[in-house]
Amino acid sequence: MGLLEDRVAVITGAGRGIGRACALGFVREGAQVVINDVEEAVAAEARAACEELRKGSAAIHVGSVANPADTDALMKTAADTFGKLDILVNNAGITRDRMSHQMTDEWWDLVIDVNLTGTFNCIRSTARYMRDVAKKEIEDHGRPKYHRKIVNFFSTAAIRGNPGQINYTAAKMGNVGITRTIAQEWGRFWINCNAVAPGFTNTRLTAPKQKGDELGVPEEQRQAMLQRIPMGRFGEPEDIANAVLFFSSPMSDFVTGQEINVSGGMQIP
Ligand SMILES: NC(=O)c1ccc[n+]([C@@H]2O[C@H](COP(=O)([O-])OP(=O)(O)OC[C@H]3O[C@@H](n4cnc5c(N)ncnc54)[C@H](O)[C@@H]3O)[C@@H](O)[C@H]2O)c1
Repeated sequence: MGLLEDRVAVITGAGRGIGRACALGFVREGAQVVINDVEEAVAAEARAACEELRKGSAAIHVGSVANPADTDALMKTAADTFGKLDILVNNAGITRDRMSHQMTDEWWDLVIDVNLTGTFNCIRSTARYMRDVAKKEIEDHGRPKYHRKIVNFFSTAAIRGNPGQINYTAAKMGNVGITRTIAQEWGRFWINCNAVAPGFTNTRLTAPKQKGDELGVPEEQRQAMLQRIPMGRFGEPEDIANAVLFFSSPMSDFVTGQEINVSGGMQIP
């Protein structure tokens, strides 16, 4: 019996990287997942990988978390396809790095819209499927049937501050505020809300950056990061997915409004 048997999860930005690892990990633990991404091809590939693990385990939704109409449609996809929604993983995120004095309005807005407003949009769109359903269960049976879960993403870069990432660090620390607020607003509905801060993890966001690339990290900076990690390696998407699984499973039913760093010790208070 898996940790997420009979649970339905929406994972945003799950076409690649950490989100994809979450989707596969969830399916291995018995969940049915909706894979959201802005890119249809990667979402379809992630779905195929999930279906290979278990037939009928995955659906896709193509759309942006920055658009409230898309996030409404995303949650509806879960309800229409699998009959309900129990877990939301707000993984979708992007970077557009530039020193503060050169940061453009366009890149500021884009990164805030996806990383911060996207989290809010998704949470608000789940209300009728998670909060309202739990409220009805309390009215009918005195308590919710089980704990439902929201997992938000922030970043060790945001905790410390990071030159060149004023937009990203602001958005990610905003997600900590959202996490603490939702934990209090929805705690009585047994909706746990916690946050994961990946450290430096091997995905396209942290791949060696070539001149002109929008994403990635210059090699010199990558090596400097490596020096700061006591465990002497970068994280893998599965390292982060394991923490997300903890916060999504009954193992964390009495944990809410908390943050965890998964960084090989790069971030020690
Ligand atoms: N990789 C790291 O070192 C690291 C460190 C700290 C935090 N994070 C956070 O972890 C999360 C996952 O990052 P990753 O490294 O796997 O990134 P990634 O780029 O590998 O994957 C992110 C996915 O999100 C999708 N996406 C982008 N904008 C979207 C939108 N508007 N709506 C829906 N999907 C969208 C992308 O298409 C992509 O498939 C992000 O929130 C990121 O900020 C990553």
